[in-house]
Amino acid sequence: MRKTLVAANWKMNGSREFAEAFFKALDLQGVSGDVAIFPPFPYLPLAASLLQNAGYERTFVGAQNVSQQAEGALTGEVSVSMLKDCGAHYVIVGHSERRSFYAESNTLVAQKFLAVKESGLVPVLCVGETLEEREASKTLDVIAAQLDAVFALAGGDCWSGAVIAYEPVWAIGTGKTATPEQAQKVHEFIRARLGAAGPQVQILYGGSVKSANAASLFEQPDIDGALVGGASLDAREFAEICRAA
Ligand code: G3P
Repeated sequence: MRKTLVAANWKMNGSREFAEAFFKALDLQGVSGDVAIFPPFPYLPLAASLLQNAGYERTFVGAQNVSQQAEGALTGEVSVSMLKDCGAHYVIVGHSERRSFYAESNTLVAQKFLAVKESGLVPVLCVGETLEEREASKTLDVIAAQLDAVFALAGGDCWSGAVIAYEPVWAIGTGKTATPEQAQKVHEFIRARLGAAGPQVQILYGGSVKSANAASLFEQPDIDGALVGGASLDAREFAEICRAA
């Protein structure tokens, strides 16, 4: 039986004061699944220590991105070993905002995935189609290509111990959540493409998840949790979503 995972992707939001207030307000009583918070890099150590002080079981911090390189003259980059030093457990790779705003190719995302996997941290691989691709009936082709690029590089049983997040680009930040049925169809496709590891891999849904729609998404057999953006900036709203899983 897969555990659920509900993750908060703060994106480029927050401050030290915000983080301190968030963790003070975060009440995870009654949450049965795993929880992860992805703050911007500068607040990773703070988030890790605030979570530790809160004493919650199965609650982790993660990073929103990482370099595919281990170290070197790469101004502005952050390595997996630095993230480990900051207490990260998970690392998001291939978020659609990085694919589109920072031209991250499937190949680069695959290299990041491999670097995270080889470091012992848990990669959260984001996949998803644009509205144009969905309207052109290319959703599954796009997602297959995103998955296959990782498998081509990392091969073997790269999917075991990884997390996948299906985030339809047209649902991110728009309030237009995929219907549970739409999401389930894609999650089912993803799981089948993961081969032997498929039944164990957590596949999260992301894209305008709120406390009002979370339960209906989590009822779907292949939706194992959520990657939450905007709604995760409110500790009470985020905790409600965690309780729905
Ligand atoms: O990574 C999660 C994020 O892309 C979803 O954003 O604001 O639609 O929940 P949002």
